[in-house]
Amino acid sequence: MSTSIKFRGGETVPMEMHKVRMVQKVNLLSPDERMKAISEAGNNTFLLKNRDVFLDMLTDSGVNAMSQEQYAAMMNADDAYSGSETFYRLESVIKDVFGTEYFLPTHQGRACENIISRCFVKPGQTVIMNYHFTTTKAHIEVNGGEVVEIVKPEGLKVTSDLPFKGNMDIDALKSEIARLGAENVAYVRLEAGTNLIGGQPVSVANMREACAVAKQHGIMTVFDASLLSDNLYFIKTREPEFANKSLNEITLELGKLFDITYFSARKLGCARGGGILVNREDLYLTMQGLVPLFEGFLTYGGMSVREMEALAVGLKEGLDMNVIEQTPIFVKALCDELQKSGVPVVTPAGGLGCHVNAEEFCSHIPVEEYRSGALAAAFYIASGVRGMERGTLSESRNADGSERFAEMELLRLAIPKRVYTLSQIKYVADRLSWLYENRELIGGLKFTFEPKILRFFFGKLEPTSDWQTKLAAKFKADFGDSL
Ligand code: F0G
Repeated sequence: MSTSIKFRGGETVPMEMHKVRMVQKVNLLSPDERMKAISEAGNNTFLLKNRDVFLDMLTDSGVNAMSQEQYAAMMNADDAYSGSETFYRLESVIKDVFGTEYFLPTHQGRACENIISRCFVKPGQTVIMNYHFTTTKAHIEVNGGEVVEIVKPEGLKVTSDLPFKGNMDIDALKSEIARLGAENVAYVRLEAGTNLIGGQPVSVANMREACAVAKQHGIMTVFDASLLSDNLYFIKTREPEFANKSLNEITLELGKLFDITYFSARKLGCARGGGILVNREDLYLTMQGLVPLFEGFLTYGGMSVREMEALAVGLKEGLDMNVIEQTPIFVKALCDELQKSGVPVVTPAGGLGCHVNAEEFCSHIPVEEYRSGALAAAFYIASGVRGMERGTLSESRNADGSERFAEMELLRLAIPKRVYTLSQIKYVADRLSWLYENRELIGGLKFTFEPKILRFFFGKLEPTSDWQTKLAAKFKADFGDSL
């Protein structure tokens, strides 16, 4: 049962199904201070200091609110280099939740990607996937592999009615395998809650089909379940076959479907860490040796035992609809509110956060001047809210040094699970719709420091004109003394 509650007037309100019992004070700087802070951060929201941020919507990674049961479990951890009871508790929960045979712990999601890519990507091979995530692609490429993305074409359209925009194009999968030759395909990867195209879900039917095609050709299948909790919500609410199935039944089916499942526990399970779940002993044994090499002993894999206890509880809590629906219903509330003011957002509303279409929002800025990066910086000046660029800046350049333009230019406003309240969400919508009305004031950005790998993390940029001063001045004229 979804807990979007109906009020007397017929309005549906996304109700918080939890109460707040510990708080953290946040700061809202003045517009001038915000302009100074973003300038010092090289116009890169990753480089802002958290003390200068009002609402941190950079990501939900490692910043979701934990439950009192998770905190309580942390006190009951068994500290041991090897053979910790905590490991066996977590292993047993993973078996209950996913039904998988083997579990390798890691310190976070990209550590799983490191191990999987090193073991299974040979130079010249291709990984076929619905869509890439930044760290996923970087690990495949570092190991000499290539990525081919075959998300259904609707997945790359900003607005659509398709309930599962993250689905893989099965015909394209067959033709890519035929084109490349099965022996040149390292594996087929499906990403739940497809991150870079707006947190869009994949249906179970699509995953079944993709895995069947891969199996027919003897190709291994890999499932990135980092964003599974939002995806589960959409399976349950949008895929009729599963309306009456429990979240655990759905997860058990997915766990059995893929040869390898991995996840970032900074997202799934509301803790910090990661894990690789395997159904085949041969694959498990191939990867096993890399855990002590890169992560830590096989019974902790770089995680603190306290986090492992929190994860064990968090994974179980993620099978409760009241827990997993909190983000998707808030994302929808924010998208709906923004659409009322004409702000272009990715639809249908997905998981993870609200995704604003910077391509349209900033259509007056040349694409080479990073529309989504410029929008992220402008929105921080207008609100103190920190979002994340998910567009061309998040891509790396082509081998010849030319810019690889992203297929979608998005500003992601992530909604960490159970962290913000509805009035804070309303504030975001208000300031963003103000910015939309004043969008002509936003100008472009250019690099002053551009790292070669994953440049979006610590690259620095500057505005191409004095547009930020003009934007702050307009804000002060319109809002007076209000922050
Ligand atoms: N896969 C997906 C789909 C992710 O969203 C992430 C992380 C990872 C892998 C890597 O996991 O951070 O634990 O190493 N996404 C974060 C984000 C960083 O902000 O969306 P990690």
